[in-house]
Amino acid sequence: MKGRVYLIGAGPGAPDLLTLRAAEILKRADVVFYDSLVHPQTLALAGNATRIPVGKRSGRRSTAQKFINKRLIDAARVHAVVVRLKGGDPLLFGRAQEEIDALRRAGVEFEVVPGVTAATAAAAELGVSLTRRGLSRHVAFVTPRAADGERSNDWAASVLAADTAVIYMGAGLAEAISAELIERGKLGTTPVALVENASLPERRVLLGTLAELPALALKTEGGPTVLLFGEVLKAALTLASPAPAGEIEDLLKRA
Ligand SMILES: C[S@@+](CC[C@H](N)C(=O)[O-])C[C@H]1O[C@@H](n2cnc3c(N)ncnc32)[C@H](O)[C@@H]1O
Repeated sequence: MKGRVYLIGAGPGAPDLLTLRAAEILKRADVVFYDSLVHPQTLALAGNATRIPVGKRSGRRSTAQKFINKRLIDAARVHAVVVRLKGGDPLLFGRAQEEIDALRRAGVEFEVVPGVTAATAAAAELGVSLTRRGLSRHVAFVTPRAADGERSNDWAASVLAADTAVIYMGAGLAEAISAELIERGKLGTTPVALVENASLPERRVLLGTLAELPALALKTEGGPTVLLFGEVLKAALTLASPAPAGEIEDLLKRA
């Protein structure tokens, strides 16, 4: 094998939320396979590389993933620096393990470069710590989405057990998420935040309660969104400057 594959986290969207290590590797990349949410300015750092989009289309995920694995291995046979550029952090909800396993089996050297994940980018938008002394010592990153043929997990049990929970890929399932959590005992008054397009100029923050989650999700505009749950979000409700004062008091009473 000639080359090495770098699995790089591109962060949540803003091109300047990239590590220096990632930028340095991109500059000397020969080929970059990138996800659909990667910012054009981040890609532009790989000025000498062939840039290949491999964003997956829904419904064809497993075939596409096998194809990506093969392309990474093939590229490492002919290039020195092969980059697999993924949104957020590559090791969270990014199917990186399938790529790592395939690279290991093929004897290809690889290295992972972490990135800023959507959950922490969203917390930054809110100005809220996901952990908080006396209030939150248990944070869960969860997704209710399962690929075709994948066994379903009890995502709701994780949300119920955690002090703070962040759900990825859940905005389109808001109604089912709210109903299941309330049915299984979570208070409808639990503070909730939806953060869409965290870190980007078109960012959007929606605050409310678990009971209001379906209505809040309808206000999102199709961008990548995380859902956050937990008492720590009361701090965001208190400081929600865009909302009129009456609305904030109302939210606080219900939270
Ligand atoms: C396939 S997962 C990839 C997660 C990524 N590896 C990470 O660490 O953030 C895609 C999901 O991440 C979340 N996401 C990614 N970028 C986001 C952003 N800028 N703002 C809010 N949520 C985002 C959304 O829930 C989206 O559906």
